[in-house]
Amino acid sequence: MMQPITRFSYRKEEMRMALTTSPRGTADIYGENLLAWLKLERLIREICRSFGYQEVRTPLFEHTELFQRGIGEATDIVEKEMYTFTDRGGRSITLRPEGTAPVVRAFLEHKMDQGPLPAKLFYLGPMFRYERPQAGRYRQFHQFGLEVLGSADPLLDVETIVLPLELYKRCGLKGFVVELNSIGCPSCRPHYREQLKEYVRPHLGQMCPSCQSRFDRNPLRLLDCKNEACRKVLADAPVITEYLCEECAEHFTQVKSYLGLLGVDYVLNPKLVRGFDYYTRTVFEVTYAGLGAQNAIGAGGRYDGLVEEVGGNPTPAVGFAVGVERLLLALADEGAFAAEQPRPDAFIVQFGGETKIKAAQLLYDLRRAGLHAEMDHLGRSVRAQMKAADRLGARWVLILGEDELAAGKVKMRNMDRGTEELVDLTQVKQHISVREE
Ligand code: HAM
Repeated sequence: MMQPITRFSYRKEEMRMALTTSPRGTADIYGENLLAWLKLERLIREICRSFGYQEVRTPLFEHTELFQRGIGEATDIVEKEMYTFTDRGGRSITLRPEGTAPVVRAFLEHKMDQGPLPAKLFYLGPMFRYERPQAGRYRQFHQFGLEVLGSADPLLDVETIVLPLELYKRCGLKGFVVELNSIGCPSCRPHYREQLKEYVRPHLGQMCPSCQSRFDRNPLRLLDCKNEACRKVLADAPVITEYLCEECAEHFTQVKSYLGLLGVDYVLNPKLVRGFDYYTRTVFEVTYAGLGAQNAIGAGGRYDGLVEEVGGNPTPAVGFAVGVERLLLALADEGAFAAEQPRPDAFIVQFGGETKIKAAQLLYDLRRAGLHAEMDHLGRSVRAQMKAADRLGARWVLILGEDELAAGKVKMRNMDRGTEELVDLTQVKQHISVREE
């Protein structure tokens, strides 16, 4: 007889959790934290404007085929991290795990490939990956990303590196490192892939199960494995930069020389590969050591074959994405970028009855004039109203007592200066605005 009761209470607990907590790997963004997000978004828009990028907002879900084709069937994301479901019309739909493939789809759908080129687009919004949540890794996270389509100019590879660095710097972040590599193109990479496999083959037995299964499907990803034994095997593996064809090598040389020209510090990491099949030539990652295991605060690279893969004409392209949550974590780690709490311009203190009616009128007069005005809605005493005004950090407290009301005036207390004056009710707006200038 005990079992059904236990099961019942277990279900009740599960139900309570389902109703009162957000799904694993997701978070509510509110309060002070949200203020930092908004400040960051403003800064992102400002920087994008000066670099000439236009915002694009693609749907949160796309046809599953777009990601299978774009990101690649043999990637972790497509194999095990996508939120894929069949909708009521029987179509396979996937919540976007990243923004590059959707932007390429939009670029083609809206004929942006017909010019003017290059198209320079940025986006800001949630992405979804079914990953194991941990500090800095979520199932719904946000990216600020940008894509430049229609040019192979190495100066644009550099632009997509410099723009996020500009953002990090203007946020006040210091301890970040840029890692850079070139992974070649479909004409030089296969040769390197074979060389890498040759090198690894005799040691394959010592490697982790996921490297063993990647060996044939996606051997470049072996370079990315964090397992100690695998890293040991790969310590002296051949590096891709020695196998680049002439065009890729020249392109990489130019990227490095433009970075030098602009005074950008970077570290060459010939083992840097990325978890998407679309990359060609330049790849880069920005890391912040203080974040622990999930230390990439942004990453990107060139993807000259993706537009064609999605059905367009061959179109070179390059881009990057910053993880917004991780950037904010890194900033918090350095104690930088705190957003200021908004302060009301005025808090109106009233004594009930007629004074409350007049206070309500004044409240809306001020709000309609664009000022941030507040008053009490909890029936607090005058003393408690004063305290509430102080807690909110109001610049002015407007005290509207019976005597003041009879004289058509209000007592205005400036909370920063500690001064008080009687002001005509018709002059309150001007008084606040003038004094704030
Ligand atoms: P990605 O490296 O997968 O690249 O993601 C870019 C950034 O998003 C990462 O460096 C990290 O900061 C953040 N991020 C990724 N996954 C998570 C997660 N589960 N939780 C929190 N943050 C995360 C891309 O998505 C490419 N589309 C970038 C790109 C644009 N390449 C060319 N254009």
